[in-house]
Amino acid sequence: VPPSRIRNFSITAHVDAGKSTLADRLLERTGAVSAREMREQYLDSLELERERGITVKLQAARMNYTAHDGQTYVLNLIDTPGHVDFSYEVSRSLQACEGALLLVDATKGVEAQTLANAYLAMENNLEIVPILNKIDLPAAQPEQASQEVEQVIGIDMRDAVRTSAKLGIGIEETLEAIVKRIPPPRVRDENAPLRALIFDSAYDDYRGVVVYFRIVDGTLRKSDRIRFMANGREYDVDEIGVFTPKPLPVEELSVGEVGYLVAGIKTVAHARVGDTITLARHPASEPLPGYKEVKPMVFSGIFPADASMYNQLRDALEKLKLNDAALYYENENSPALGFGFRCGFLGLLHLDVVIERLETEYDLDLVTTAPSVVYRVHTTSGEVLEIDNPCKLPPPTNIERIEEPYVRIEMITPAEYVGSLMELAQSRRGEFLDMRFLTESRVVLIYEMALGEMVSDFFDQLKSRSKGFAGLDYRLVGYRASDLVKLDISIHGEVVDAMSVICHQSAAQAIGRSLCQRLLEIVPRQQFKVAIQARIGSKVIASEHLNALRKDVTAKLYGGDVTRKKKLLEKQKRGKKIAAERALASGIRVPKEAFRAILTAK
Ligand code: GTP
Repeated sequence: VPPSRIRNFSITAHVDAGKSTLADRLLERTGAVSAREMREQYLDSLELERERGITVKLQAARMNYTAHDGQTYVLNLIDTPGHVDFSYEVSRSLQACEGALLLVDATKGVEAQTLANAYLAMENNLEIVPILNKIDLPAAQPEQASQEVEQVIGIDMRDAVRTSAKLGIGIEETLEAIVKRIPPPRVRDENAPLRALIFDSAYDDYRGVVVYFRIVDGTLRKSDRIRFMANGREYDVDEIGVFTPKPLPVEELSVGEVGYLVAGIKTVAHARVGDTITLARHPASEPLPGYKEVKPMVFSGIFPADASMYNQLRDALEKLKLNDAALYYENENSPALGFGFRCGFLGLLHLDVVIERLETEYDLDLVTTAPSVVYRVHTTSGEVLEIDNPCKLPPPTNIERIEEPYVRIEMITPAEYVGSLMELAQSRRGEFLDMRFLTESRVVLIYEMALGEMVSDFFDQLKSRSKGFAGLDYRLVGYRASDLVKLDISIHGEVVDAMSVICHQSAAQAIGRSLCQRLLEIVPRQQFKVAIQARIGSKVIASEHLNALRKDVTAKLYGGDVTRKKKLLEKQKRGKKIAAERALASGIRVPKEAFRAILTAK
C-alpha cells in the first residue's frame, strides 16, 4: 500500500466517553467485522477490562475504506489504554500514529483524561480531530462542550464531528475526517534500513509473544531475521500480518504500515514497548527516539494467605509477567507474613488489576501489605539507595536525607466541590499551583504532591468528596527531599515488620494514632491484655490497649465430662496451630486487613 493511502490514528478519550463503541461502529461500517462476527466492543478483549470498564492492553485494527474521493484507504486504528498508569504505553501508541480522534462526551465536556490525552497527542505532533459523542442524549450540550474544548485545549471546534456511536450517527463523517484531515505517513528516506516501533506486545499461549509494531523506515518480510535494538536479541520471524481485526498473515509490510509479528519470543520483557525492530543483516544505526524502560512506581508485599499456596502464587506471577513487562517481583521473607513476593507496579490501578487477576483467575487468597513508593535514601557514607520497602530503610543515624517522588496532579471538578477537594489536597501535603475555570461551573485544580500521599485512599476520597464527579490525572515531576520517618507498629511488644510505613514527620503522630485505633477494631481480643503501639525508633508516639477476653472456653461445660473437655482443648490447640502459621511470636493471629489498615488510617 502506498503511504499516501494509509492513515494511522488512535482514539483518545476519557473513560466511558464511548471509545470502544465508536471503534465498533468504524469496524462495522468498513466491513472489517461482519455483522455475524460482530461481538460487542471488539477491541476490549480482556475479560477483566470488560468488568472494570477500562482498557488495559492496547491493540490495533486495519480497515479498508473507500472515501468520497473514490480512493480506497487503509485505516489503522491503534487502541490506547485508558488509564494514567499506562501513560508511557499511550505515548508509544500515539507515536505510531499521525492523528488522533479526540472523543469528548457531549454530556460531560472536558474531563481529566481528555485533557491529559489531548496534551499527549499534541506533544507527539498529531493532527487532532475533535468528535462530540453521545449527541443522541437529551443531556448533550455540544455547544458548551465545544466551548470548553476551545478554551481549555485550544482546538478549533468548528469542524468537530458530531456522533452518536450508540446509534451509528456521524460514522461516515468520522471516516471522511480521518482521510481528509489526518496526514499520511511520511517517507523520510526510501532506502533507509528497517526501523519499526513496538507499541505493544502480548503473550499468547500457543505462539509466544505477538509484537505489535508500526514501520517507520524500510520493509519487513516474512523470512527476515530481526533484531531488537534495546537488548540486541535476534529472532527469525515466523509470521507477519495485519489485524482485520482478526490476524491475517501477509508477505511483507513497509513504510507507514501497522502489523504484528510472531518469532518464538518467550516473554514480553524481551520485546518491550518503545523498542525499535531492525534487520539483523542490515541494521539501522540509530533506534527510534523515546525508548524507556518503564519502572515500577508502587510496591507492595504479596503473600499467600495459606503458606502452602506459595508455589501456586509464584507460578501465577510468572505467568502474568509473561504478558506484563511492567510487573516486577522478587522473593520476600517477612517475619510476620512468611514467604511471599515484593511486587512492583506502574501505579495503583495496575496493582489492583494484578491482585484481582491473582485472586479471580488463579483462585488465590492473598495477604497484601500497604503500597509504598520508591524512596531515594542518601546515607551518611555517601551512598544512594532506592528503597521500596519500609523494612529496608537503614537506621536513622545512617541516613543523611530521604527523597520521595513528586507528582503534578490535575483534578477536574464541578465548582461546588472545590473547597472540599482543596482541603483534601492540603491534608495530603499538596502544594497548590493553580486553579482555572473551564466554564462557570467546572474547575481544574493543579497541585504538586508526594506520590506517597496519593497511593493510599486519595482517589477514593476524591470520588466520595465529589459524589463521583471529579476526575484525576497525574504525572511524575521528580524527586524531592522530605522530612520522612519510618513508623513501626508493635503488637504486644513485637514490631510487626509488614505493617511499617514511611510517612512525613508532621503526620506521623496522627497516622500512628489512627492506625492504632483501626487495629484495635481488627485484631481479635486475647486471653490477655494487648498493647498496640505506634513507634518511631524506640519512641512510642501513640498507643491503645486491647482488653483481655474473659471467657474461658471450658466454662461452658457442665460437670466433669473429661473427654469432652479434652476434645475441646485439643480443638483449641489445633486452632492455635493454624493461627500460628500467620501469627506473631506472641501467638496473636492478625487478620489480613490489618496489613492494609494504613490505607484507611490517614
Ligand atoms: P473505556 O473503554 O472504559 O475507556 O470506555 P469507552 O470510552 O470505550 O466507552 P464505551 O464505548 O464502553 O461506552 C461507555 C458507555 O457509553 C456505554 O454504556 C455505551 O453504550 C455508552 N455510549 C457510547 N456511545 C454512546 C452514544 O453515542 N450515545 C449514548 N447514549 N451512549 C453511548
